[in-house]
Amino acid sequence: MEFKDRVAIVTGGAMGIGRACAVKFAQAGARVAIADFDSEAGEKTAAEIRESGGDVIFHKTDVRSFAEVEACTEAVIQKWGRIDILVNNAARAIGGVVDEIDEDSWNEVISNNLTSVWRFMRCVVPHMRRAGKGSIVNMSSVQSLKGFHGWAAYAAAKGGINALTQQTALELAPAGIRVNAVAPGTIMTPLNEKVFREAADPDDLIRRWNEAHPLGRFGEADEVAEAVLFLASDRASFITGDIVRVDGGLVVKGD
Ligand SMILES: NC(=O)c1ccc[n+]([C@@H]2O[C@H](COP(=O)([O-])OP(=O)(O)OC[C@H]3O[C@@H](n4cnc5c(N)ncnc54)[C@H](O)[C@@H]3O)[C@@H](O)[C@H]2O)c1
Repeated sequence: MEFKDRVAIVTGGAMGIGRACAVKFAQAGARVAIADFDSEAGEKTAAEIRESGGDVIFHKTDVRSFAEVEACTEAVIQKWGRIDILVNNAARAIGGVVDEIDEDSWNEVISNNLTSVWRFMRCVVPHMRRAGKGSIVNMSSVQSLKGFHGWAAYAAAKGGINALTQQTALELAPAGIRVNAVAPGTIMTPLNEKVFREAADPDDLIRRWNEAHPLGRFGEADEVAEAVLFLASDRASFITGDIVRVDGGLVVKGD
């Protein structure tokens, strides 16, 4: 019950890593708001958490819309009166090499995956400031730290998240608000299931991606959620502005 009475917003909490975070926060006693644009999956995840005794709401929110992010923030404040934890996790995987990707796709990735993080911070931070405390965890990626062919816009968005994490950690430290990021390696979630489905040779891609991780396998959504919960908790009380890799050693691999 580490998070008893704490209120957490998890964006993209309907599926994958966000879902794992929402489940674990609820199990640890938090009141959880799932902000996601997929109503069916969001309601389903919320119902499952509720059935297990968790305190949860689903708020249909498209993180590309400032008005919807504002409405979600207000709904959480109306219901629980505070926001202690914000997990900016929602993102879409849209690939493309730099000279092939079109401007609409570029803008879509940046809005969905990077500006969305600012939108939620812009709405939630004033409430955290008033409380004099808070913890924000942004979902980055190893793609912000290393090159992977065909992901120009996605990698740029994740690199932007790292920079935003460091900047806001500095700006918000005097207000008692910590800001960190988690950079996962390959995690088997609906996002990657789609990438594999669309690959020319899915078996070859899965084998190569497994081998890319020194631990020899993909990670689990729960393994990323563990890092998110740690950073959000008081156990991480002296950690801010950090980018924590959960990547099976992918980034340190040199041969
Ligand atoms: N899976 C991986 O291998 C991996 C690796 C590195 C980083 N990440 C990052 O982890 C996070 C979660 O990824 P995942 O694999 O769980 O993805 P996923 O596709 O399985 O889940 C993403 C969730 O975000 C929601 N979402 C997407 N766009 C949204 C929008 N505009 N508004 C509201 N909700 C939206 C989706 O509905 C979904 O519930 C993302 O930030 C992703 O970039 C994933």
